Amino acid sequence: MAEVSGQTLKLDGKVSIITGGASGIGEATARLFVKHGALVVIVDIQDELGQKVADSLGSDHCTYFHCDVADEQQVISAVNFTVGTYGRLDIMFSNAGIVSTSKQTVLDLDLTQFDRLYAINARGTAACVKHAARAMVEKHVRGSIICTASVAASRGGSSRTDYVMAKHAVLGLVRSASKQLGVHGIRVNCVSPSAVVTSLSKRSPEATKKTMKLYEKLSSLKGIELTVERVADAVLFLASEGSSFITGHDLPVDGGLTKLPDEDDLIMYNL
Ligand SMILES: NC(=O)c1ccc[n+]([C@@H]2O[C@H](COP(=O)([O-])OP(=O)(O)OC[C@H]3O[C@@H](n4cnc5c(N)ncnc54)[C@H](O)[C@@H]3O)[C@@H](O)[C@H]2O)c1
Repeated sequence: MAEVSGQTLKLDGKVSIITGGASGIGEATARLFVKHGALVVIVDIQDELGQKVADSLGSDHCTYFHCDVADEQQVISAVNFTVGTYGRLDIMFSNAGIVSTSKQTVLDLDLTQFDRLYAINARGTAACVKHAARAMVEKHVRGSIICTASVAASRGGSSRTDYVMAKHAVLGLVRSASKQLGVHGIRVNCVSPSAVVTSLSKRSPEATKKTMKLYEKLSSLKGIELTVERVADAVLFLASEGSSFITGHDLPVDGGLTKLPDEDDLIMYNL
């Protein structure tokens, strides 16, 4: 591994795509990846924001590419752009995701919202894994694919049924893809954060404070909050050689969360 000013570059020269890289967890990961020597293509639908993040990281290190992950053709274009520009793809961080605007309990499930969420959170993730893996296999790259799941990927919730279902699907995808792609030396893992303040989870400052307090109460680890930078650290680990024998793993980034908050305590905005 190369070193710059005494710091080991864990991703020196690695070509990466980060979906949902214009904000939140994706943005923090793009910043950390570049710090570790990676070449990053930010893929998002928020063009102005995505371009701003890319510009702030420098055009030698980071590029923005518009892509709605719900559209397979756009995912193909993003992968082709990356391979065309940098010659290969080493890392895919499939992270873009949304929440529905209503509570989405089973009795009141809005199936139009359900379909949109599924198209992005589950189907979009599958498209990203598929086309990243194809590009890696074609160039004989022993790459790393990381998806953003959630603590909601392995537990039921008192609301957000569509979100919980889609994150369970991401976990199933990671487990299956890791089995199928291992023969090519491609690793597939996911991170499962608990609540972290981003534009996806942000409500009023008071509500956010209350939510974070509640999560601290339900976590084993006290006196520390989850931040996007802490999630990015976990993604870096799964992207780098430090995790070279780890595949099919769901890495919780949740401070040892014991259970999800109940509806009485909290509307599950923060998962
Ligand atoms: N914030 C949390 O508490 C939390 C907890 C667990 C998991 N997650 C997951 O983390 C991931 C990132 O979310 P975040 O919290 O950083 O929120 P965020 O809203 O800050 O980031 C999500 C990004 O995805 C982009 N995006 C949305 N739809 C897209 C599409 N169709 N195509 C391409 N990009 C699209 C958005 O423009 C945005 O930049 C999501 O998958 C989310 O489900 C978040």
